[in-house]
Amino acid sequence: MGTCIPTHALLSALARRVEREGYVPLESDLTSLLALGIPAEEIAATLGASDTEASRGALAALAGVVARRGSPIVLAPDGLPTNVDDSVIVAARENFTRHDWVKLKGFFSPTLLDLVEREMPDSGFAPKSHGELGSELCLTPCALTERLMHLMNDPRLFDVVDRITGCGTIGCFEGRIYRLVPGTDHRDAWHTDMVMGRMVAMSVNLSGERYEGGELAIRSVRTGSLLASVPNLGLGDAVLFRLSHELEHRVSDMRGAAPKTAYAGWFRMRPAFADIVAGRASF
Ligand SMILES: [Fe+2]
Repeated sequence: MGTCIPTHALLSALARRVEREGYVPLESDLTSLLALGIPAEEIAATLGASDTEASRGALAALAGVVARRGSPIVLAPDGLPTNVDDSVIVAARENFTRHDWVKLKGFFSPTLLDLVEREMPDSGFAPKSHGELGSELCLTPCALTERLMHLMNDPRLFDVVDRITGCGTIGCFEGRIYRLVPGTDHRDAWHTDMVMGRMVAMSVNLSGERYEGGELAIRSVRTGSLLASVPNLGLGDAVLFRLSHELEHRVSDMRGAAPKTAYAGWFRMRPAFADIVAGRASF
């Protein structure tokens, strides 16, 4: 169903100001339009119609707002990604293409988060070393990790991830629940993750309390310059980010007192999840 005439009138009025007065919309202007249900790509098409400095400024501001809001793709308890209409995919793909990452707001549904809270015992975490790359606590395999593995290895989710990232056919998702505790030796060094057919990484925030530090940072391998620093503090929000020989990433050092807990892993080209289930292959 389309939006009503007064809603579109607001967008048209803003477009006129951009075109005639050189007005660069404030974030609050754009947030209001998105809150009215106007798709981001429709706002972009309208405000970006004139090739002017204000028009380009509007598009840049919109991209920032969309990136921070995240795309509302939700993983339901049956594994079906919901709210996945074309406008959501287009907005997510636009952000991923431009920045090499995209946030999926509320990716874990409240029901799924309840399950995680019930079945994630503090006693289930064990130290895990990644050698030169760092160290963390990792939830040992249990009913919860098994459940998440099956939810995340759903062809319908693979299709959504491919449509957003253009990564191609996904064979499986390999994930783990990890925890970084401030004041310990937990850390993460720069790396590309370009091994074992990994194509796209995902991290879902499962931290019950607000933590400090622990941000995803992405830098250029060639120049060493920082390309993105991505906080992910919303419970159940996911960040999808590109893996490439051109990009390194790390999780920044923890600060404060609260730990960071996340479900993180990689969408891999191979092996096929069906082969893992059948015992013909392993992660
Ligand atoms: Fe990584």
